[in-house]
This record gives sequence, structure tokens and C-alpha cells, in this order.
Amino acid sequence: MANVLIVGDGAIGLLFSHFLSAQHDITLLTRKPTLTTRFYQASNGKSHPIKAHLINHKELGHTAPFDLVLITVKAFQIQAAFKQVKPYLSRTCQIVISHNGMGNVDELNAQLLNTQGLAFLTTRLAGFKTTPYSVNHTGNGESVLGACNATASERLNELEQQFSYLPHFSVSDDIHSLRWQKLLVNIAINPLTAIHNVKNGQLRAPQFNTRIINLLNEACLVANKQGVKVKLSEALDQAYSVMTATAENFSSMQQDISHNRESEIDAICGYVCEQGAKLGIKTPYNQAMLSMIKIKS
Ligand code: PAF
Repeated sequence: MANVLIVGDGAIGLLFSHFLSAQHDITLLTRKPTLTTRFYQASNGKSHPIKAHLINHKELGHTAPFDLVLITVKAFQIQAAFKQVKPYLSRTCQIVISHNGMGNVDELNAQLLNTQGLAFLTTRLAGFKTTPYSVNHTGNGESVLGACNATASERLNELEQQFSYLPHFSVSDDIHSLRWQKLLVNIAINPLTAIHNVKNGQLRAPQFNTRIINLLNEACLVANKQGVKVKLSEALDQAYSVMTATAENFSSMQQDISHNRESEIDAICGYVCEQGAKLGIKTPYNQAMLSMIKIKS
């Protein structure tokens, strides 16, 4: 049993808290009041309290030091969240991050002791918050974890054990490629659903097809130049199958833009543009999405 800190009480933070609490002692760092119990609601409608110590940032010392920290906030909030929790991590703590888009790994690795591991967790676990305190669990897609530094690589078996209570969980020795695959899905779905204010499934209409192909074509050229083997045809198949599986959902970016919140566009199309510029690949379609979302947010 590890002393685990979960940062972020969004839908994914609550789902991870629920599953990992079967095996570990969980502390959940929340932004909202800590006195209100958080609830997990299964797809059959049954609801029960999540077993976790709820704390705010001033109380981090109460249950520290942590052996494992799982940071589930948005891409652009990761650095600030890490700065807040860093003093409370054990010398051999494993830090796991999970968010849409790329980035953050180099910046975090530069701040870790060489005895601390860094790993990334991609997940297709799905849920939504029915109230600020309750998550409705709607889907059990795969979750895959991979090391982002040498320490995590050496201790991958330990991480595999620690996350074994997550549904459909596995580890990979090539998390960078898996992050790219997820990135390609987000590039196809997130900005267009936000700009046109539509559900994921509505992007299957023929009017969006050429733009989706152009966006993914640019991104695949960048990935290939980085040495990541992805094919446009496979990226398109994957994006359209996620649109179908999540047809009735609004993407996270559609929700961010419609609620006037900051979006993850910098870590999605922004990453492709930045890498494209470094590698000499033009990315006008991703640049257009980046500019349009920036104007809207
Ligand atoms: O960001 C999201 O909403 C999700 O990653 C995805 C896969 C696009 C499904 O809505």
C-alpha cells in the first residue's frame, strides 16, 4: 500500500481516486471545499463515497511524504501544480502526469532528484461530473502508463503493481508514440468541435472531412520527422472511431471554450506548430486552429 497523492478533482481525478483507493491510502488535493465527500457513480446508477482524505494546499503536510503522486490537471496547470506539491514528495517518489496534449516532461525532469521517477499515463477511462462533488463513470477504455525518465523505467514493475486496480491497465515502453496517437485524435476532434460548437459525432459530416485530413496530414509529417511511426490512414481511422464512440459527448475543448475557460490548444495544435517550425515543416492548418481558439478564449 502506497501513500498516494492525487492532484485535481475533475472527472478523471475522481475516477482515479475511486479505483486506486481499493489498494492505496489516497489523499485528494482539491480546489473546492474539502468538507464535502466526493462520490463515485457507476454506470448502473449505484453511487458511493470515494475513500480519500480530502485536503487543500495548506494541509499538504498533514499526510506527507507521498510515495506516488498522480497529477490530473490540464496541460497548462501541470507546472504550477508540481511546484505546490514538490516539498511534500518522498526522495523516491514516483510522479505520474496525465493530460491531453504534449509537453511538460522536460520541464519536470529538470526539477526532480535522480531517485524520483516520472511517468505519463494516457487514459480512455470516461466520466463526467454531475455535481462538483460527484463523478458519473461512463466508459472503461484502456489506460497505459510509460516511463519518462530512467528511474521510472527501472521501477516500471512497481508502477505496474501500483496501478493494477485501474480497469484495462497496462504499461508500455514507448509512451511517446502512444501520446502522439492520442494527440492525433485530439487534433482531429477538439478544436473543430470548439469552433463549431458541435458534439464529437457531428464532425463525421462531410463538410469537416478535408480540414480533418489536412490537420492530421501536417501532424503526421511532424511525428514522422521526430521518428514516431504514424500513418495518416490509421490516424484518420482512429479519429473517426473515437468520434463514433463518443458521438454524444462534447469534447473537453468545446466545454472549455463554451464556459470561457482556458483551453489545452497550446499543448495540442500549438505543439505541432512549434515542432513543425523546429523541423522545417509548414503547419498552416494547425496554426489556423491555434489562432481561432486563442481568439475565442
Ligand atoms: O479531450 C477530449 O474530449 C477527449 O480526449 C476526446 C478523445 C476528444 C473525446 O471527447
